[in-house]
Amino acid sequence: MPVITTIEDLRVLAKKRVPRMFYDYADSGSWTESTYRANESDFQSIKLRQRVAVNMENRSTATQMIGQHVAMPVAIAPTGLTGMQHADGEILGARAAKKFGIPFTLSTMSICSIEDVSAGTGGHPFWFQLYVMKDRDFIERLIDRAKAANCSALVLTLDLQILGQRHKDLKNGLSAPPKPTLATILNLMTKPRWGLGMLGTRRHGFGNIVGHVKGVENMGSLSEWTAKQFDPGLNWGDVEWIKKRWGGKLILKGIQDVEDAKLAVNSGADALIVSNHGGRQLDGAESSIRALPQIVDAVGSRIEVHMDGGIRSGQDVLKARALGAKGTYIGRSFLYGLGAMGEEGVTKALQIIHRELDLTMAFCGHTNIETVDKGILLPGTYPVAAP
Ligand code: GLV
Repeated sequence: MPVITTIEDLRVLAKKRVPRMFYDYADSGSWTESTYRANESDFQSIKLRQRVAVNMENRSTATQMIGQHVAMPVAIAPTGLTGMQHADGEILGARAAKKFGIPFTLSTMSICSIEDVSAGTGGHPFWFQLYVMKDRDFIERLIDRAKAANCSALVLTLDLQILGQRHKDLKNGLSAPPKPTLATILNLMTKPRWGLGMLGTRRHGFGNIVGHVKGVENMGSLSEWTAKQFDPGLNWGDVEWIKKRWGGKLILKGIQDVEDAKLAVNSGADALIVSNHGGRQLDGAESSIRALPQIVDAVGSRIEVHMDGGIRSGQDVLKARALGAKGTYIGRSFLYGLGAMGEEGVTKALQIIHRELDLTMAFCGHTNIETVDKGILLPGTYPVAAP
């Protein structure tokens, strides 16, 4: 077993252990993947200021996201088909997050259902991500199920009414459970660990949906299903009724533009997530870290601003925080840990990120995450809001 010290180590191990169809699903962006790449590379070009001879004892990365205590400003992002990266993946991710003291967000398109995750974590509150489908009865029931499971925030995704094209998913014939084509069977034969895990669970389909939407027993391919079921008409009026129906903390995910950020403030949501869906929707959109400062500048005093996209280290978390993100989310960094080593791998990913965050903060001369601001960044290397 190799010594794991980075998220990249976990990615390499996940690639070995997870069937190609599901690894590819996680590790891809839409079309040319330029936004997917920029999300990561734009973090790299931001430089930090080293400070010395500062007392580095008694450090703390603890803070709050939407008023909830978090051990570090990181939540697990909602990711589709998580229970296909590893058997019962959503339950394992939620358990690791609970132990670490950070929020776990369950996707509508999860394999384990809301009820499975709630039971699997002893009723510990988690966040639920909502996709809006044409069947509004189903959406109302889904919101009610999230309430009944004690979910402590609803994360409403606004950037996926239609699905960006990801070439590999089409070529691989992505579906859950996978269809028994020759290519898939041959690939599964090289993933015995994964297969054994899957034999040990009954959760192989979309747990929130199958059996809850009239007529849906089998979802076919993901791209066909989203095209049929997701509501392309989603608009700010819908945000209003969802907010009312939910009645709790609301986070709007997928904001990249200042005009949309202002509309998010008007909606009365508690937070927004600057996000381009991990480069999986509008290829050619700006990276999240570049989009962040202008949104913080325009609305940061009126709504809590979070971000996701490209976070592969604690240094990235620190840079996002310095640029005004009160919280961040990890999608792929979480999935790589999960695919590599199940719950232990998720814990490992969180430990790696936490350690990098804690040490980097100290090297920059701070002992408390709450005092970190743009002052830790080298001028001229970070994006700023246009005047
Ligand atoms: C769904 O959220 C996806 O990006 O595939």
